[in-house]
Amino acid sequence: MNTQMISTPIRVGKKEAPNRIVFQPMECNDADSNGDPSDLSINRYRRFAEGGAGIIFTESLTITSESRARKSQLSITEQNAKGLKRLIKEMREVNGDSLILFQLNQSGQLSEAAFSKVISVYPTKDPDIHVLTEEEIEEISDNFVKAAVIAKQVGADGIDFKHCHGYVCTEMIQPANTRNDRYGGSFENRTRFFRETTRKMKDALDDDSFLLGVRFNAYDGVTGGFGTAGPEEVIEDLSEPIAFSKMIAETGMDYINVSAGIAGSEITQPSKKYPEGVYRLFGWAKAVKEAVDIPVIGSGYSSLRDGKNGLPETDLAKKTFLYWAEKNLKDGNVDLVGVGRQSLADPLFPKKILGGQLDTVDWCTICDHCLALMFAQKDVGCATYDKYYRDIYLGTLKKTKSKTD
Ligand SMILES: Cc1cc2nc3c(=O)[nH]c(=O)nc-3n(C[C@H](O)[C@H](O)[C@H](O)COP(=O)(O)O)c2cc1C
Repeated sequence: MNTQMISTPIRVGKKEAPNRIVFQPMECNDADSNGDPSDLSINRYRRFAEGGAGIIFTESLTITSESRARKSQLSITEQNAKGLKRLIKEMREVNGDSLILFQLNQSGQLSEAAFSKVISVYPTKDPDIHVLTEEEIEEISDNFVKAAVIAKQVGADGIDFKHCHGYVCTEMIQPANTRNDRYGGSFENRTRFFRETTRKMKDALDDDSFLLGVRFNAYDGVTGGFGTAGPEEVIEDLSEPIAFSKMIAETGMDYINVSAGIAGSEITQPSKKYPEGVYRLFGWAKAVKEAVDIPVIGSGYSSLRDGKNGLPETDLAKKTFLYWAEKNLKDGNVDLVGVGRQSLADPLFPKKILGGQLDTVDWCTICDHCLALMFAQKDVGCATYDKYYRDIYLGTLKKTKSKTD
């Protein structure tokens, strides 16, 4: 079993990740009523720390409770500093080597109206959705800066400035953002929010060892989405994603994490029905990697498993997570490989893989019950291997059934 590439440390900005496995951000919707980590959240992240991935991203932390996608979303405002400090302390008690990065987000159009305010960067078909004024956009920018400062104060290694999966910063850079002020229309205007906010973050942090990076979608997969050529286009066109990658690197960011699709889509999470989706994610990461010289993280590796994955490749040995992780790293297609769902299935995954205990891995079954729990606004976890989440999942099925009976 060859783990030569994934076990090699890598410099990220001024820090070092001890290996090439990344635990991607995974929203688990289990904060307490103040948006602080609950014991459930703390235990999950302690287990992640025990797993020892080179980088552990927190799930998407909301920079405001006013507009958010999950009812019990972890928050990052001044009131949450104490809870977040505890989170970092508990993780570091278990493992002081993994880099811990906070993903910062504002949910925008994907905020849930049942408990928060839905907002948008540009007009949508729904007249009830509030379109942000320039002043409100600037306020959101300030909140991202405040959140980054809190992340540093509580001891995180850095932040991820989330630009993927349809949330507010995705909207900002999409060709569909045809606002006629300084934040819409041209590529220059649509990326202004990113540049301005990054500059403000850097000034406020005044610490070039604190890592800053971006997770963005190479292709949103919707009309007018990022990775298309215009507001009415849907065919993939990587001109802007490549230009944005270069801009991210030129702005002095420390890494790029490449994803795709709107939250919940099969483009984001390669599914059982379309396992080949993982090849598209490989290609997008490779295209970004060719354009920049900062570390690039790839997404979507959970579906590869132990090779039992439905990919049309007869040699099982050439279909596994380990095969593709090693190959993509060796071929220079990517610098780190990210798993999302696999981290919930088996938080000790990196430790097991790097320790040669492949036969003890609880492989993600790509059942996507974690996703179903997230959209049902329940506590999110692995319903296959953990009875606590299985019972919640079965409860949601019963409820749906009694509604339809
Ligand atoms: C339940 C669930 C929650 C997720 N939460 C986040 C999140 O908070 N931030 C983010 O950028 N991506 C999120 N994602 C996407 C994952 O990080 C990852 O990109 C996706 O699951 C594909 O990778 P995988 O095949 O390794 O699971 C989430 C995915 C799932 C299934």
